[in-house]
Amino acid sequence: MRINKYLASLGIGSRRAIDKLADEGRIRVNGVIATAGTKVSNEDTIEINGKKIKKEVEKKVYYMLNKPLEVLSSVTDDRGRKTVVDLIKCKERIFPIGRLDYNTTGLIILTNDGELFNRVIHPRSEIYKQYYVKVLGEIKEESVEKLKTGVKLEDGYTLPALVKVIKSEKGKSELELCIREGRNRQVRRMMESINCPVISLKREKIGKLSLGKLKLGEYRKLTDEEIKYLYSL
Ligand code: URA
Repeated sequence: MRINKYLASLGIGSRRAIDKLADEGRIRVNGVIATAGTKVSNEDTIEINGKKIKKEVEKKVYYMLNKPLEVLSSVTDDRGRKTVVDLIKCKERIFPIGRLDYNTTGLIILTNDGELFNRVIHPRSEIYKQYYVKVLGEIKEESVEKLKTGVKLEDGYTLPALVKVIKSEKGKSELELCIREGRNRQVRRMMESINCPVISLKREKIGKLSLGKLKLGEYRKLTDEEIKYLYSL
């Protein structure tokens, strides 16, 4: 089995994260540096960053967190900044599904289930994510139309978005924006493209999963129904 699939099945991380570790030369199989294409089996000894990995399959766990400001959406940080994984007390090796910017707050899901990770972030998964956005400037009707049909960014046109303007005044506006893609800084770039730079950004929903009463920094386990729902998407 390919090393990314094997390690993902043990809950080490997503296949993509494992490919990155392999590309960086941080994985050894039987003492030899592995590549993303290396095949492994249960008999092999695998080390990541010099540490031998345990082969027992972990129980799958699923959390939702209301990510505060100034927290990274990664597992670790070379510069010692706080990550979303640091905020959750659990012994399993969890990782976030998708990313929120350092200065974005809101709903993020963490799990050790690599299969769910792949389904949710797959480009063909059509899950809408809902953001509550505060911006500088007034949102004009023509800008709303642009967001709804697709705006041109450096990496191409965005897919149609759902837009609900909550408040629009000369100095500041507020809106709800639902998008299906997850490009880097997508909402911020979409709002810049209509000359309304983001002041604050919060993810309120992923599909029908919503933060509910979770305050910033709080988290809870997903219910069985919520897990089933994510798998059904
Ligand atoms: N879009 C952004 O610009 N930032 C986020 O954190 C999420 C979506």
